[in-house]
Amino acid sequence: MAEVLIVYATELGHTRRIAERVASEMRSAGHQPSVVSSDAAPELDRFDAVIVGAPVRTSVFVPAIEDYARDHAGDLAGRPSALFSVCAPDDHDDRGCRDALDAYLRTLLQETGWHPDVIASFAGVRPYTHIGLAHRVLTAGASQAADHEVGATDWDAVSGFVEAFVHHLQRAQRAQAVSSAHPAST
Ligand SMILES: Cc1cc2nc3c(=O)[nH]c(=O)nc-3n(C[C@H](O)[C@H](O)[C@H](O)COP(=O)(O)O)c2cc1C
Repeated sequence: MAEVLIVYATELGHTRRIAERVASEMRSAGHQPSVVSSDAAPELDRFDAVIVGAPVRTSVFVPAIEDYARDHAGDLAGRPSALFSVCAPDDHDDRGCRDALDAYLRTLLQETGWHPDVIASFAGVRPYTHIGLAHRVLTAGASQAADHEVGATDWDAVSGFVEAFVHHLQRAQRAQAVSSAHPAST
């Protein structure tokens, strides 16, 4: 069992929703997750692993997540970690989202030395600016709320992301157990 911190930033709420699904699946896999916003995240000392959820806004990750990674780079690099990004459904399958993720990972590595062990990108909710005023008026009310709740996320892909991280975590914990049992002689 690992204590896993799941840190996210959000504006429209969907990155939190994905973070909660990730937590629920980590719990089913026998781990103990805590889901927290990056502006209220506790120190990482008591956590064995960390997952960061980062929404894309105007082609870059939101500053709150960039700041979080910069401020906690040493702690992030020192334990199993994963990153998932959340993009507009329209942009998710084209270069925009992938370019944002690639650029962010390059910057992260250069600036902080942190490179997450498992990385994924999911489609989030459509921001109203992308929908247009006419559609907004027509879908006001229940269907609009439903769009925000469901988003365009491939939930099977979220499960695959969790599965990959759980495997990574198990391997890391086994390796740590072996090195604790047989410390290298100096
Ligand atoms: C003001 C604004 C700008 C956005 N810019 C982008 C963008 O450049 N590229 C992209 O893929 N998604 C963009 N999105 C879409 C968000 O990534 C998507 O709606 C996601 O679900 C937001 O995460 P959140 O629901 O956790 O706030 C933008 C959303 C908003 C509200």
